[in-house]
Amino acid sequence: MNFKDNVVILTGASTGIGEALAHRLAAGGACVVLAARNAQKLEAVATDCRARGGRALVAPTDVTDEDECRALVERAVVEYGRVDTLINNAGLSMWMKFEDVENLHSLEYLMRVNFFGSMYCTYYALPYLKQSQGRIVAVASVAARTGVPTRTGYAASKHAMVGFFESLRIEVEDDGVSVTIAFPDFVASGMHTRSLGADGRPLGHNPLQVDKIMTSDACAQLILDGAAARKRQVLMSNRSRLGQWLKLIAPGRVDQIAKKAIEKGK
Ligand SMILES: NC(=O)c1ccc[n+]([C@@H]2O[C@H](COP(=O)([O-])OP(=O)(O)OC[C@H]3O[C@@H](n4cnc5c(N)ncnc54)[C@H](OP(=O)(O)O)[C@@H]3O)[C@@H](O)[C@H]2O)c1
Repeated sequence: MNFKDNVVILTGASTGIGEALAHRLAAGGACVVLAARNAQKLEAVATDCRARGGRALVAPTDVTDEDECRALVERAVVEYGRVDTLINNAGLSMWMKFEDVENLHSLEYLMRVNFFGSMYCTYYALPYLKQSQGRIVAVASVAARTGVPTRTGYAASKHAMVGFFESLRIEVEDDGVSVTIAFPDFVASGMHTRSLGADGRPLGHNPLQVDKIMTSDACAQLILDGAAARKRQVLMSNRSRLGQWLKLIAPGRVDQIAKKAIEKGK
């Protein structure tokens, strides 16, 4: 792996795919800067990272707060002197039909976490990433390329991420900074239980067939392989690979696949 001694700012590091990314990065000898809101969970992840041979800094951060995102980058620079990689992984999902949404604030909040949070972190890290000719990783979703029922606000926030990072990629190419966008399909993590329901509160249960979907660790491996190779995008399932072509010739078929995936929970 290509991350030995790399200074990696990782958002959403307290659990799920982010925790798995932290473990793998640490095992590869990276210096990880662990960001999320839950400081206690971050401390536990940091302990695991150090046990795996990496260096780890805990930086509690709410990515919806621009000042906290700036402070996150400043902490990384004060501690390690540079930033080589930024992984925008923090995210929140939803599981509700748009007509059932009780308060539109829920959808605004999804946009703040998924889109604005990534944008703030990227803005403050960019000068350092240009110095290091570093890597930016955006963890989007299959819902960033196509519509998914029960995911209107989530899909919108992830489509926004893709528009932003695909544009930024062109701007920073000549500076030697790469932008890799990952498009996970269903992944087993607590995200589905935490997804916002119609009342704006966490769903509280996981409607997916957890044993039939990708593990967080397998997802983390694919993300890091893609980032190491400075790939433009990382697709993770046959249906997402097929979907990008099918969308051009039979978009209605892609809609059906998305509908069926939600109904079956896999
Ligand atoms: N799981 C899937 O099926 C799936 C599929 C496609 C894409 N993805 C994407 O993959 C990424 C990781 O998802 P996951 O499955 O690992 O979800 P997860 O287990 O729920 O983890 C989400 C992470 O984001 C952090 N987070 C949430 N709100 C935050 C905020 N305001 N500020 C800072 N950190 C915040 C959480 O930590 P705190 O609560 O401690 O802040 C947690 O560390 C997300 O961007 C998600 O959209 C997941």
